[in-house]
Amino acid sequence: MTPAVAPTALPAGLQPGAPFTALAPMQDVTDLAFMRVVAHYGAPDFFFTEFFRVHTQSRPEKHILRSIDENRTGRPIFAQLIGEDLGHLARTVQALLRHPIAGIDLNLGCPAPKVYKKNVGGGLLREPAKVGAILAMLRAEVPGLLTVKMRIGFADAGNFDRLLDLINEHRVDLLSVHGRTVKEMYRSEVHYDLIAHAVSRVACPVLANGNVTSAARAGAILTTTAAAGVMIGRHAIRNPWIFRQCREQFSGATPARVTLADVRDYVERLYRATQAPGLLERLQVNKMKKYLNFVGQSVDASGAFLHDMRRTESELELFRVCDRHLLAEPAREFPPEPYPGVIARPNCETPHALTDGCSLETITA
Ligand SMILES: Cc1cc2nc3c(=O)[nH]c(=O)nc-3n(C[C@H](O)[C@H](O)[C@H](O)COP(=O)(O)O)c2cc1C
Repeated sequence: MTPAVAPTALPAGLQPGAPFTALAPMQDVTDLAFMRVVAHYGAPDFFFTEFFRVHTQSRPEKHILRSIDENRTGRPIFAQLIGEDLGHLARTVQALLRHPIAGIDLNLGCPAPKVYKKNVGGGLLREPAKVGAILAMLRAEVPGLLTVKMRIGFADAGNFDRLLDLINEHRVDLLSVHGRTVKEMYRSEVHYDLIAHAVSRVACPVLANGNVTSAARAGAILTTTAAAGVMIGRHAIRNPWIFRQCREQFSGATPARVTLADVRDYVERLYRATQAPGLLERLQVNKMKKYLNFVGQSVDASGAFLHDMRRTESELELFRVCDRHLLAEPAREFPPEPYPGVIARPNCETPHALTDGCSLETITA
């Protein structure tokens, strides 16, 4: 393991001078295997880990550390923390600095009630004073890059300006803004006007996050917000070519067309990459359904692929369904935008599950 050399400036993007792209941190998604698959189709400029939970008993989770230590994508990775205790956050930072991270990212956005009720993640947005204390400590502990990922507020954007001023006061190096409140979860309209407001108020570069569905939308959102780049989550699960397409869009080229045959290749690659040794086939198939819930939003307008895919129980059945829907017309375009009204709804979604945390089990488009 190479010890981290603390960088002092943001690493250059893959296309110098162009807006940045980043893969949004997603618990249970952005692990080593998923990042490798995304990098195969065109890496983003920056990766972020799933959040490391910080509390009295916590030690940095081994599987998340793997995504840092075994990162061969060639792109820098920021380690995200969620927590509120200054001492334990400082201890975790020191542990993470022994790994090859690009910097430390603070989660100020997770909207899961189980998380925000502990006053961490999005819950902290209610307490700017506490956020100030955490940022002061992190700034003192982190010799290199300190980044923050935040929503625009808890129930409303009343604290937004105070929080943005803290970003300046503590010399945060990069701010990602998901343009929704915690209460708005994942489905409301995104307040791009407030992302634009953040861009005008903070000194550091801002990444615009929330419903960046395609390269064309990324271009439009950058025009609206004047952000330094985009951070993309769910739509990179649906379309892992999106970062390459963004670079093409930003350089004035037409983004490369993706076909259904390309998507069949993606499904196969994802299946093999995410297959943990010894995992029961049925469980691997269920795991795939969570990703395919997003992929299916661009396969057909009727949702027929999603319907059939959700009913499979074995690898053979799953790939038969993929072949039927993706290889019948292999040259047909996989459209860059999702079909309207085709919803990614994991079959396990229940109101109870919504209290569990930020995970694919609980979050739908
Ligand atoms: C399954 C899932 C897990 C997530 N986990 C995290 C997380 O660990 N840390 C975080 O800051 N945000 C997390 N998020 C929020 C995303 O990073 C992102 O802000 C949100 O999905 C909006 O962006 P999008 O519209 O591009 O998906 C998660 C989102 C999803 C869908």
